[in-house]
Amino acid sequence: MRPHGPWTRLRRGPVRVGRKSTTREPIIQESETYETQEPGAVEPEATRRDAGGAESARANRGWWDRNADEYQVEHGTFLGDDRFVWGPEGLDEIEAELLGPPEELKGKEVLEIGAGAAQCARWLAAQGARPVALDLSHRQLQHALRIGGSFPLICADAGALPFADGSFDLACSAYGALPFVADPRLVLREVRRVLRPGGRFVFSVTHPIRWAFPDEPGAEGLSVASSYFDRTPYVEQDEEGRAVYVEHHRTLGDRVRDIAVSGFRLVDLVEPEWPAWNTSEWGGWSPLRGNLIPGTAIFVCERD
Ligand SMILES: C[S@@+](CC[C@H](N)C(=O)[O-])C[C@H]1O[C@@H](n2cnc3c(N)ncnc32)[C@H](O)[C@@H]1O
Repeated sequence: MRPHGPWTRLRRGPVRVGRKSTTREPIIQESETYETQEPGAVEPEATRRDAGGAESARANRGWWDRNADEYQVEHGTFLGDDRFVWGPEGLDEIEAELLGPPEELKGKEVLEIGAGAAQCARWLAAQGARPVALDLSHRQLQHALRIGGSFPLICADAGALPFADGSFDLACSAYGALPFVADPRLVLREVRRVLRPGGRFVFSVTHPIRWAFPDEPGAEGLSVASSYFDRTPYVEQDEEGRAVYVEHHRTLGDRVRDIAVSGFRLVDLVEPEWPAWNTSEWGGWSPLRGNLIPGTAIFVCERD
């Protein structure tokens, strides 16, 4: 039983802290070798247990490097190469305008965090913005390179952003980094630091209420199975007890407090409804559940 959806499952990449990019060409730093799954390796055990920042980052970096190819095959068509989709419901930034009217994005410097194959950054570039796509996973960024685009790709951890203070007008993250880090305040403080005054940070995560339900698309996914208040991380671990995948749960109140104490003002909290056109079903995501309980929470934050 997984408390989260496979939308969020897949991440990992070498944590690299580099310099602020000065080129608009795609760049990725040379990667270390990927951790690869042993042939015939035993399925990881799913459990709930504590996992700190370093363990979470290491596990998730490896996970996304190993699973980026599969993730892009599974979700690439739905995401589109150059659309900005906030989550499995399919809410598109072109309609939502959570970063502001698209015509006002022109010339804006925008940081995308946990960018994956940088679909959102590509859409931002098409609006005339100047995006930078950052991800922990080198393999995810290789998919960004494969699809193409003329903007920097940075392989780094969201908790240690390799940019000077006040480098960006806007920041965004569609299910990137925030669901996976042990210390979301570290990430929020970093994002605040690299934003200019008045800058906006919009990020989506699995809606916290989903953690109380089994991660199943059918009726079995509609009965509360665990406490919403249990913040114990979801961990998949190998035979030695080493985490190979970690997700962290915060209640809605936790998220609001994290935002406030990190120096942001919460401007809006969007809970996209499941649209009639979306007949997709995968993992815990389905029209049945989507019509009854929220799946995604999008936080719109501004720094003073
Ligand atoms: C669910 S994917 C979302 C990717 C993309 N936004 C999308 O919608 O397909 C989560 C991404 O977050 C990245 N990620 C996870 N933890 C991170 C961290 N601490 N710092 C930066 N990126 C991270 C993963 O490598 C992965 O590419």
